[in-house]
Amino acid sequence: TWTPAAFVETTVAELKEKIGTEKVILGLSGGVDSTVAAMLLHRAIGKHLHCIFVNNGLLRKNEFEEVLHQYKDMGLNIKGVDASARFLDALEGESDPEKKRKIIGRVFIEVFDDEAHLVEDAKWLGQGTIYPDVIESVSATGGPSATIKSHHNVGGLPDFMKLKVVEPLKMLFKDEVRRVGASLDIPAERLGRHPFPGPGLAIRILGDITREKVAILQEVDHIFINGLREWGLYDKIWQAGAMLLPVNSVGVMGDERTYEKCVALRAVESTDGMTADWVNLPYEFLQKTSNDIINKVPGVNRVVYDISSKPPATIEWE
Ligand code: XMP
Repeated sequence: TWTPAAFVETTVAELKEKIGTEKVILGLSGGVDSTVAAMLLHRAIGKHLHCIFVNNGLLRKNEFEEVLHQYKDMGLNIKGVDASARFLDALEGESDPEKKRKIIGRVFIEVFDDEAHLVEDAKWLGQGTIYPDVIESVSATGGPSATIKSHHNVGGLPDFMKLKVVEPLKMLFKDEVRRVGASLDIPAERLGRHPFPGPGLAIRILGDITREKVAILQEVDHIFINGLREWGLYDKIWQAGAMLLPVNSVGVMGDERTYEKCVALRAVESTDGMTADWVNLPYEFLQKTSNDIINKVPGVNRVVYDISSKPPATIEWE
């Protein structure tokens, strides 16, 4: 029978054998798959694993600093690269959802390629690919593999793509990845993290992206997600987040009329992201969260809750 401990033992031995003393480069996202792949490789080859964690300026509030710190505590040889300005400058003025995804994919590849060149004599590219990624290799949602594919068609192959590929989780399902992660002593908080899309807040800010909008949405999202944690709801939900709508509406504050932004909160139950139901959050929670957001986040005067299931709606709004 399959056990996480036996999987770790065989896989680490296989990785040692396969890689020897060669260097591996791996991009970490903060998500479960890349983190577990990194920890397995770390067990096998230690400092010969060079991890790269890119801040695209579209992560959750404080996520880059906190997750980087946690990775360092886990003993990983990791470099944090703050490329926020590069991404946000490239996105300026673009409001088409698919074009925003393409820009982010392209800049990510450029940044990653620059960083990969700094690791002398690297031979391998480590990836957190899991079994469902292999079977749906043409991702309808435009995940990282689809992004890389569309990039190929326009330019040449980026140099890091010429490396040999090592994918230690290729035969595992998500729940198995989590169990392997637990047996590698990865913090439960990291393993239980909600999925978060590669393009990050860019596809939750409807329309064009500005630094100011990112800052507003980070605050709103932070209040919502922290609230879910405080109320013991976070672990019961598959994914949650907030959307910044391209709509201003009239409100009133004191004697003043306001004309400010509206945010939509979204929380869904799902098993694989292909279908999803909206979560019946307690009214008291929604009431408290809405008040907190409107009182604490300047520029937002209205909060709505998304009660659409997938299909026909999607989880993300873009
Ligand atoms: P949708 O919005 O298609 O989302 O119902 C399904 C799941 O996929 C995630 N998602 C993405 N992940 N790049 C990603 O890495 C993307 O472009 C992307 N679009 C959606 C979404 O967060 C949800 O978990």
